[in-house]
Amino acid sequence: MPAYQEELEKIANQFEVDLKSATTFDDLNNIEIKYLGRQGFINNFLKIYPPKGNPELGKDVNQLKQRVSAHLEERRNKLSYHSPKIDLTLPLKDDLTGSTHLISRTIEEIEDIFAKIGFARRRYPEIDTDWYYAEGLNIPKGHPARDDQETFYLTNDFVLTAHTSNGQLHEMENQKPPIRMINIGKTYRRQADTSHNPMFHQFEGLVVDIDISIANLISITNYFAENYFGVGRKTRLRPHHFQFTEPSFEIDISCDLCSGTGVIDSVPCKMCKSGWLELGGAGMVHRNVLKNGDLDPDIYSGFAFGWGVERVLLMRSGLKIADLRNLFTDDIRFLGQFK
Ligand code: PHE
Repeated sequence: MPAYQEELEKIANQFEVDLKSATTFDDLNNIEIKYLGRQGFINNFLKIYPPKGNPELGKDVNQLKQRVSAHLEERRNKLSYHSPKIDLTLPLKDDLTGSTHLISRTIEEIEDIFAKIGFARRRYPEIDTDWYYAEGLNIPKGHPARDDQETFYLTNDFVLTAHTSNGQLHEMENQKPPIRMINIGKTYRRQADTSHNPMFHQFEGLVVDIDISIANLISITNYFAENYFGVGRKTRLRPHHFQFTEPSFEIDISCDLCSGTGVIDSVPCKMCKSGWLELGGAGMVHRNVLKNGDLDPDIYSGFAFGWGVERVLLMRSGLKIADLRNLFTDDIRFLGQFK
């Protein structure tokens, strides 16, 4: 056997050994460079044994080259078949990442705003008895106020709570004054249209202590308006009626679009028409409710408010959501817009 053939065989054997120990694409790339590269074994061989005038040698070298290429290719195919085709070390594309739901984000934000001034986050039952939901809140059986809300009644005295005010009595039972709670939860009403979902969320504030007055309610309301809606937003109280507060109010917040004037360029503001947007109900806790919470109304006083999470979310963002119920679907094409 000519000397060059022995040399070629050595290269071929060494290649088999290298190939066996290769486990990654990088290994295979390195082997390719080692054998077929410009400074590789085969080119170096050709420098020592020039193929000129030796067609046999040229043929043998070509055969080896083809074998090396074919084996490398075979191993690459096997590797890509067995290994994941994605590079797990790459950062995820933005559109593949999830995000917290708009409503959950709003709830977290509300919780944080009130936590800063010492309100403890609470969760009280969404299915509750008539006592906590109505009777104990000074709404006796047969009272017309029971018809105010589109309540879902369940069997045996239970209701799906149509407001979070049931949390007031639970809180008085669990915690002696000073009370500063923010109860955020799901509420249910028999309403379904483009601006109402049968399930929605409220946040209920309750403060009970010695010498709590309407001034405290106003300052907390203003604090929330400035911290949630932005500096410069003002609030006002309008007389209203709730069975469980006396006096009772509706709280309005100044409209951002027209700065509370109700007009823009001498045309009525499209957002609010009057300069004010309705936030929700509030009032001084009724004496009967304090008594039902086992607190002496001659010693303690308090205020409460109950506002809608979806309401403040839409009021602040100015989002024009054609159908509020979309917020409660799992259609990520819709939800993905609000990352
Ligand atoms: N529960 C009332 C509602 O759902 C709001 C409210 C809460 C009013 C607390 C006064 C005090 O409309």
